[in-house]
Amino acid sequence: MPESHASHRPRIIAIANQKGGVGKTTTAINLATALAASGEQILLIDADPQGNASTGLGIDQSIRNGGSYALLSGEQTLGQLALPTTVQNLFIVPAVADLIGADLEFGQYDRREFLLRDAIHSGNSAAGTIFIDCPPGLGLLTLNALVAADAVLVPLQCEFFALEGISQLMRTIDMVKHRLNPTLALEGIVLTMVDRRNNLAEQVSADVRGHFGTQVFETVIPRSIRITESPSHGLPVLLYDFRSAGAQAYLNLAAEFLRRQKARV
Ligand SMILES: Nc1ncnc2c1ncn2[C@@H]1O[C@H](COP(=O)(O)OP(=O)(O)OP(=O)(O)O)[C@@H](O)[C@H]1O
Ligand SMILES: [Mg+2]
Repeated sequence: MPESHASHRPRIIAIANQKGGVGKTTTAINLATALAASGEQILLIDADPQGNASTGLGIDQSIRNGGSYALLSGEQTLGQLALPTTVQNLFIVPAVADLIGADLEFGQYDRREFLLRDAIHSGNSAAGTIFIDCPPGLGLLTLNALVAADAVLVPLQCEFFALEGISQLMRTIDMVKHRLNPTLALEGIVLTMVDRRNNLAEQVSADVRGHFGTQVFETVIPRSIRITESPSHGLPVLLYDFRSAGAQAYLNLAAEFLRRQKARV
């Protein structure tokens, strides 16, 4: 990816939820794609050993190089590791299998929670926004993302234990703020895989909005078969089926994301 010569710093957003399968990667890929389409350079760092964001963007194993593992270990820089994707303006630092051992391997390092932050700060990426796709769980990789980030975006699936799960995540975010990254903010909560015919989902969604108010994005992501299909084609849903409800929802989410960002400035 092109390096920046200006002294600008990208905004860094961690996409996190310790619960698995709630739409973190889908949101990372499609929000990043929608923002890239608006002309901004976007970088996605795949910090999940599963490598779903890398596969979902069609990045073949053979070209992944050191990926985010080499970034964390300091072996290679952001500029060396970021690869172009089929989406114009969207670059990715893919995940590689070595990342599975990260907790054990980097757990011994003095600055173990700061590895990603240090790597991002020492490279001068031209990206305006960097998204970090976190693995499920609250291990060292997620911690590194929360320490590197300016803000955390939380995809939330509206199901029975949703509120309990999210309070645990909020406690972790508070812990990170107090001990490691005082300026970490909550970018917002995105309700994902929403099925309007499901009464429980409606109830949970109302509870989450009652509790978190305007921190919940107005845009909701509906359950959509096109979203489920798109990763197996190595494409964001926006390229796979632009007219689908899922693609349009992510376009709306990107517009709301930009509006909220502007309002904050
Ligand atoms: N709105 C949606 N409609 C239909 N299927 C979806 C939707 N969002 C995500 N999915 C599907 O649900 C599964 C889990 O989504 P995703 O991989 O984005 O979750 P995740 O939180 O990143 O999971 P993990 O914790 O394992 O990393 C995937 O198969 C994905 O294609
Ligand atoms: Mg994922």
